[in-house]
Amino acid sequence: MTNEIDSLYPVCPETQLNHAECLEFTLPESIVSQLPDIYLANKDAFVINWQSQHYAYLNSCPHTHVNLNWTPNQFLDVESHFIQCGLHGAIFEPHTGLCLRGPCLGQSLACLPTVLHEGSVCIDMNVLKAI
Ligand code: FES
Repeated sequence: MTNEIDSLYPVCPETQLNHAECLEFTLPESIVSQLPDIYLANKDAFVINWQSQHYAYLNSCPHTHVNLNWTPNQFLDVESHFIQCGLHGAIFEPHTGLCLRGPCLGQSLACLPTVLHEGSVCIDMNVLKAI
């Protein structure tokens, strides 16, 4: 039986990222195998601190499902206003993952629900499995 704490996957300390900073991470196979089909068994993900809130997404552009970034932990446009895909330039709202411009206009990044627990940013697997 899994309790609530077991379902939390810690990504990084809450204080590690400043506003508009991102961190890549890899989901363990034990979690990926339980993901809903929409996540396409992708293990690459990232978390962003945006205005002191943490959001996590799979590192997969809705256009062709390639990784969004070309440089480690760099996901934002040059002005640090939006998440930007490095291949064709689609831009996404940092706090929703919604594509505002580009070939996947209106589609969204696959969101991983986050929660703060004991000073860490965690992925809440209970919420994710219910999607
Ligand atoms: S692959 Fe991301 S915009 Fe085309």
